[in-house]
Amino acid sequence: MTSHSPGSPHITIRGLTKAFAGVPLYDGFNLDFARGRITSIFGPNGCGKSTLINMIAGLMPMDGGQVLFDGKTLRETVIGYVFQNYRDALFPWKRAIDNIAYPLVRAGMDRAAIDARVDELVTSFDIGFDLKRYPYELSGGQQQLVSIMRALAPRPEVLFLDEPFSALDYEMTLSMRDKLQEVFHATGVTMILVSHDLEEAVYLADHVLMLTRRPTRIAEVIDFGAPRPRTSATLSEPGFVRAKAHALDVFQREVRRAP
Ligand SMILES: Nc1ncnc2c1ncn2[C@@H]1O[C@H](COP(=O)(O)OP(=O)(O)O)[C@@H](O)[C@H]1O
Ligand SMILES: [Mg+2]
Repeated sequence: MTSHSPGSPHITIRGLTKAFAGVPLYDGFNLDFARGRITSIFGPNGCGKSTLINMIAGLMPMDGGQVLFDGKTLRETVIGYVFQNYRDALFPWKRAIDNIAYPLVRAGMDRAAIDARVDELVTSFDIGFDLKRYPYELSGGQQQLVSIMRALAPRPEVLFLDEPFSALDYEMTLSMRDKLQEVFHATGVTMILVSHDLEEAVYLADHVLMLTRRPTRIAEVIDFGAPRPRTSATLSEPGFVRAKAHALDVFQREVRRAP
C-alpha cells in the first residue's frame, strides 16, 4: 500500500486548540481523516462540529495546533465547502452557471478551460433545470446542487459539507443524499460531512466520528462498511440498524453525562 491509497490518512490534525471567550472548545485535539472516504461528524448541539470543519477549511482561525493535507498546508491544497445555508452561500446576482464557474474565474483559468470544466460538471450531474437561471428562480434542492457543483468545480481534494441538506424537505433530502453518493463514486473525493441526522450520518459514511460535549473529544469512531451505492434497502439491513443503534447509544451517553 502506498501512502496515497484510499483509507490512508489524508487530513491530520495535531494539538488543535480553540477557545471562545476563554472557555475551551478544543484542547489538544488530534484526529486523522481518511482519504477517499466519507466521514460523518455527529455530536451534541454546540459541541463544535461547525467550528472544527471551519478551522480545518481555514474559515476560522485556530488558537493553536496544526492541520496538514498529505503533509501540505491548506494554502497548497484545493478544497471545496458546501454551506448549510445555500441562500447565503450563492451569489444572488449571478446565474447558476456563473456561480459554478466562480472559483475557476477567481483562480484565473482561461474562458475556454472554464467552459469545458463547467460542461463536464453539467454532464456528470445530469441536472434537470436551466443553469441560466438565477438562484432565486430555483428550488432549495436545486440551489444546493448548484452549491455542490461550485464546490467541486476546481477538483478539490477534500469536500466539506456542513449540514448541507438540513434546510431541504425530506423528499429532496433523500434525492440529494443519492446525488452526493454519485459524486463520491465519480470523484473519490475525501468528504467530511457534518450531519445532525443520525440516520443520514451513518447511511452516507464509511466512518462516523462521534464527538463529546465540550471540551470536545472523540467519543468513538464507528465504521460502517456497507457496499455502495446504498439505497433505501440499506436502511433496514442488520448492519445499518446495528451501527445506528450503537451510534445512538454513544450519543445518549454523551448528552446525559453531567457537564
Ligand atoms: N464566533 C463564535 N464566537 C463565540 N462562540 C462561538 C462562535 N462560534 C461558535 N461558538 C460556540 O462554540 C460552540 C460550538 O459551536 P459550533 O461549532 O457552531 O457547534 P455545532 O456545529 O456542533 O452545533 C458553541 O457553544 C458556540 O456557541
Ligand atoms: Mg453547526
